[in-house]
Amino acid sequence: MCGIIGIAGDQSVTNRLLDGLKRLEYRGYDSAGIAVIENNKDGDILKRRRAQGKIVNLAERIKQEPVDGVLGIAHTRWATHGAPNETNAHPHFAGRVGLVHNGIIENFSQLREQLKGKRSFQTQTDTEVVAHLIDEAMNTGMSAKDAFANTLKQLTGAFALGVIIDGIDGTIFAARRGCPLAIGLGDSENYIGSDAMALATLSTRVIYLEEGDWAIITKDSVEVFDENDTAVVRETTIVSTSMAAAEKGNYRHFMLKEIYEQPETVSHTLTHFIDAFHYKAKTPKELELENLDWRKLERLSLIACGTAAYAAYVAKYWFEQLALMPVDVDIASEFRYRKPALSKNTLAVAVSQSGETADTLAALRYCQSKGLQTAALVNVLESTMAREADFAMPINAGPEIGVASTKAFTSQLTALLSLAIAAGVQRGHISEEREHALIQSLTQIPRLITETLKLDKDIEALALDLSKAKSAFYLGRGVHFPLALEGALKLKEISYIHAEGYAAGELKHGPIALIEEGTPVIVIAPSDEMFEKTVSNMQEVSTRGAKTILITDAKGAKHAKDMADAILICPEVCPETAPIVYAISIQLLAYHTAVHLGTDVDQPRNLAKSVTVE
Ligand code: AGP
Repeated sequence: MCGIIGIAGDQSVTNRLLDGLKRLEYRGYDSAGIAVIENNKDGDILKRRRAQGKIVNLAERIKQEPVDGVLGIAHTRWATHGAPNETNAHPHFAGRVGLVHNGIIENFSQLREQLKGKRSFQTQTDTEVVAHLIDEAMNTGMSAKDAFANTLKQLTGAFALGVIIDGIDGTIFAARRGCPLAIGLGDSENYIGSDAMALATLSTRVIYLEEGDWAIITKDSVEVFDENDTAVVRETTIVSTSMAAAEKGNYRHFMLKEIYEQPETVSHTLTHFIDAFHYKAKTPKELELENLDWRKLERLSLIACGTAAYAAYVAKYWFEQLALMPVDVDIASEFRYRKPALSKNTLAVAVSQSGETADTLAALRYCQSKGLQTAALVNVLESTMAREADFAMPINAGPEIGVASTKAFTSQLTALLSLAIAAGVQRGHISEEREHALIQSLTQIPRLITETLKLDKDIEALALDLSKAKSAFYLGRGVHFPLALEGALKLKEISYIHAEGYAAGELKHGPIALIEEGTPVIVIAPSDEMFEKTVSNMQEVSTRGAKTILITDAKGAKHAKDMADAILICPEVCPETAPIVYAISIQLLAYHTAVHLGTDVDQPRNLAKSVTVE
């Protein structure tokens, strides 16, 4: 994931920026760069040095062509829009503006169109557009502060920004929307960083910007403004100097941090699997899956365990609906023992966060022994599955520390939906126009996740009731049936409350006998074509005393306003991407229930992050 660091002070910054980038290496990246305002005989000049690959390459570049100053920003980039090369590496320059960015600017194409004829672009990145907007606004006479604030209002998406401007001495402009950004306080120096880790050796006094905040930082001052440009005072946290605590930042648990990272992590998954610049799903060749041809495949076999298996179950609907490709989904521990009748033209995909799960690895090896093409969709590219499969596909979610999988799940879903779209296009079932619309919907996910995270307090309140229950049901139809399974798993594994996920239409075939007064039933139902039927299933349990929580959108809430005991209103989402956005609400529901119960959220009893035994 991208990393940002900046220093506004009165001492040399270059080496400390490089040190800060090194502390961000754990996030993964493919290029890096720094920009400083260098003070020399010609006055202050904005300069940068960038390099593809690791930070050692950047350090070498700086050694060859030194730059330094007392104000600077730096960035490790995870290829977003545009190839992972030096040209597309941050910081991006436009006129007097130098800028680093993390996340995704959803409407960059439209903004680029607005600047056509006025500005010449050097890259294909979404980031560069932001630098041009700020510079263009200042060309019209706007102050730097107003130009920055005005530009933020034009952006749609999930992002964190750091900006320095030639002629605006000693000042960093920063903003946070969907992607975390922190301010570090020093002695006649102040800093910005993606997280406490980035700032760990610079400061232990940290201000975590809140959603929509932006800030102006100099060596002696920090001004923070909320999304309405009102000056606000944000709390200063004293961060433990321990790296582990720093990694958690201002979150109580790794799981909560990873839930909140999802606008950023989904952005990174997206950029590997789609070309948002051209609104296209990447072909297998572009994904370096050279011999994979979706047209020649008869079947897909998705094999996984636990949360990863539920991502695979969702993907079955996508591949069959979008690519008309038959899909088998198997729990890995069952797969090879059922002696599956496999056909040669089947691609077997192991879906695994760790890439080490013994059952899934054994299933992968079984498929290889039967002569199938195999792929591994993993979060750990150095894992055994990634090494042994014919194709390795990274979900780029960054290290997932919490045992209960959250960001890996939404990144697995994002990757699988992107692949299903690519398969549909290649097999001739998705028109260019529909592909454009689907890719547009994919690029909206980080922002919609950010919107859903704003429901956190409402969900925490619902969780208080749920924490008193002895058992619970999760219901869903279509792609939301596997999401119901995942919701129940999340609740079980971290709160230890028994829960069952069920196809909403199936409850009346037996399990409804378990419904009694006060049984909590969580119903996942956006206002899609299945909504009416799902709501009537909800009423079947309500009449038998169930306490229902309906997770829907505004339209669904309006329709069902008197039918559920509680309604959680999620943002409007298209049917295809809904499971990815709705996953956030069930993750937060399980998280807050567990916190109410005081369980060990990050390392629940009996569980392991990677189950390397059968
Ligand atoms: C996830 O919440 C659990 N830790 C578990 O179900 C996990 O998803 C399963 O063990 C598979 O792990 P993997 O994705 O690393 O293969």
